Amino acid sequence: MATARTQELVYGCMGFGGSWDPSPYSREDLRTAQRAVTAALDLGIRVFDHADIYRSGKAEAIFGEILAGDQTLRASIQIQTKCGIRVGESGLGVHYNLDKQAILDRVRGSLDRLQVEWVDTLLLHRPDPLMEPELVAEALTELHAEGLIRQIGVSNMAGVQMATLQRHLELPIVVNQLELSLRKRDWVEAGIGVNGDQGIAYDFPLGTLEYGAAHGVALQAWGSLARGVYSGARTGDAGPAERVTSAMVATLAGQYGVAPEAIVLGWLMRHPADISPVIGTTNPERIRACADAAAVAAQLTRVEWYSLFSAARGQDVP
Ligand SMILES: NC(=O)c1ccc[n+]([C@@H]2O[C@H](COP(=O)([O-])OP(=O)(O)OC[C@H]3O[C@@H](n4cnc5c(N)ncnc54)[C@H](OP(=O)(O)O)[C@@H]3O)[C@@H](O)[C@H]2O)c1
Repeated sequence: MATARTQELVYGCMGFGGSWDPSPYSREDLRTAQRAVTAALDLGIRVFDHADIYRSGKAEAIFGEILAGDQTLRASIQIQTKCGIRVGESGLGVHYNLDKQAILDRVRGSLDRLQVEWVDTLLLHRPDPLMEPELVAEALTELHAEGLIRQIGVSNMAGVQMATLQRHLELPIVVNQLELSLRKRDWVEAGIGVNGDQGIAYDFPLGTLEYGAAHGVALQAWGSLARGVYSGARTGDAGPAERVTSAMVATLAGQYGVAPEAIVLGWLMRHPADISPVIGTTNPERIRACADAAAVAAQLTRVEWYSLFSAARGQDVP
């Protein structure tokens, strides 16, 4: 018997706060974020995705200002944030830090900026090669015991990495957020290419989707809109496969009576891995264009799914 799907759209707040430098955000940045949050809420989106590093903390800070201006909002949504990536510290460009104290400090910083007492889910943003799972576990257990985080997840992690970490954790990993889309297809390609030369070209770690399915780790897809390459964004360097795929997306959108974004996301959600797309557009119209994604996923035929897949990869599957 098929299990009930739990996938839902998640709103990604990485676009909030203006520039990536630490200069203050403007009132216009705030209005942009307010309009996007309103559009997302109107669509029924209840999960908002953050990270401590987005726009040097300004994405969280702007969201905190929105929450402070609406006393009822916090109780009706789930807030997810991430820690582990450090930018421009200690003479380094980008590095990772999942030391115990770093995790504790970063989460407290996020709570301050968001102006909330807890976040619903904390994700470890990327695997830190120097992390010691026992100490990560201590940090997460402390934060959970203090009521500062309710559940935990990871991002950009392979199945074996999750399994290794989980052995040390008291709390279950409930989410893995990965880049998955009609454009970033290696998560499909790697499975198809098993035992074939083509498989070598894809470095998506086999077993990652399967680990999630076996252990109740929900999948979230970042970059899910493929940054608009199949739904109207002018990239300037679109190749033949992107042009053919965009045309096919437009045709299907016409047939289904939905926006192209709903087709792009519907393709992702049609996959049985139960993927929740994280949408990062700040444009209210584009947010509304995602409304019918789940409905498309429920109807998209095998032929349509494979037609889009073959078009995007530029050739049939082997
Ligand atoms: N875990 C991680 O490592 C990780 C990494 C990156 C992102 N994320 C999360 O995932 C969320 C989504 O990721 P993402 O923003 O990279 O991917 P996305 O949702 O695929 O793309 C959103 C971006 O594409 C632009 N876009 C989309 N459709 C367009 C169109 N038709 N024409 C022009 N521009 C278009 C948007 O601009 P407009 O705003 O102008 O619409 C926005 O800049 C982020 O907000 C963040 O929460 C996580």
